[in-house]
Amino acid sequence: MIISSASDYREAAKRKLPRFLFDYIDGGAYAESTLRANSADLAAVRLRQRILKNVDNISLKTTLFGTEQALPIILSPVGLTGMYARRGEVQVAKAALNKGIPYCLSTVSVCSIEEVTARTAQPLWFQLYVLKDRGFMKNVLERAQAAGVTTLVFTADMPTPGARYRDAHSGMSGPFAASRRILQATTKPDWAFNVGILGRPHDLGNVSRYLGKTTSLEDYVGWLGKNFDPSISWKDLEWVREFWKGPMIIKGILDPQDAREALSFGADGIVVSNHGGRQLDGVPSTAKALPPIADAVGNNLTVLVDSGIRSGLDVVRMLALGAKAVLLGRSTVFALAAEGQRGVENMLDIFTQEMRVAMTLTGVTSIDKIDHTTLVQAEA
Ligand code: GLV
Repeated sequence: MIISSASDYREAAKRKLPRFLFDYIDGGAYAESTLRANSADLAAVRLRQRILKNVDNISLKTTLFGTEQALPIILSPVGLTGMYARRGEVQVAKAALNKGIPYCLSTVSVCSIEEVTARTAQPLWFQLYVLKDRGFMKNVLERAQAAGVTTLVFTADMPTPGARYRDAHSGMSGPFAASRRILQATTKPDWAFNVGILGRPHDLGNVSRYLGKTTSLEDYVGWLGKNFDPSISWKDLEWVREFWKGPMIIKGILDPQDAREALSFGADGIVVSNHGGRQLDGVPSTAKALPPIADAVGNNLTVLVDSGIRSGLDVVRMLALGAKAVLLGRSTVFALAAEGQRGVENMLDIFTQEMRVAMTLTGVTSIDKIDHTTLVQAEA
């Protein structure tokens, strides 16, 4: 099929993937109203067109935590990425490396930290969940440090998982899930052969190393539910801050007060996120949540954002609303599922081109010049 936008990859991925995998990534929590608001609110943000500003030399480079990168984009941590393409996390890491941007590996990835770092010589970011098993947290942090991970992203918005109705219907969870998944795989022979068979093992690389046994998809759903820790507070995180010498980012912030607490805790950055609309349905979109948070802490913390970003224009909108850079989850995984590493690189080329057009027509030549004056609302 013809790919002219990153959203086309969603359709291409839908054709290729068994339903349980497509729905897991595409879906959100409960009635999915926050999922829809994320992209709808962002699309409603009006860019301010300017003309005749000599925008011949546009640069998309930016510096995060002292490291220059080619684009204000990080490829998001997404659980089970290795189910979407053969050794998927390695392919995403290679695409990020080729495009000069960071990739953040998930705790619940198929490929382990060691597999990814052995196959791509790059500075990797790593995402950690709030887990009951402090031994696991310590073990995985030590391994991340030994493997040369530069930056830690601590996901704080999943003390308990939100209900994903689509997962129960699709066979990701629910009754007879395994047989339903096998049945679906038989209808997608390309995926079944290239990923289902040749992409094995499909266990959770980081978790199974710790447990000393192979884990399966059943363990994924079960392990997540059993191991998240609702009792955690900032105080319980102090040892992580002490242990982790590199930049530490807290992901899942929607409230300016939590952003201030992240600052007093000693975080280097935050991700304004509602987990792609996958946790508490009914919370605000990140396009609405971001501006007051950036006002509260933007001078003292690196403010990143995710959820609902579907194009390069959306990246420029988020930067204008106060973010330093964005994380891309669904766009990455859809492009990976459709065309592997090449698809992720092409998706990033599409975003790059769209950002260039948006910057040209709003009259800004560098990333740090994109701010509230790039939006029409600033004039109102
Ligand atoms: C895990 O992070 C998920 O959103 O499913």
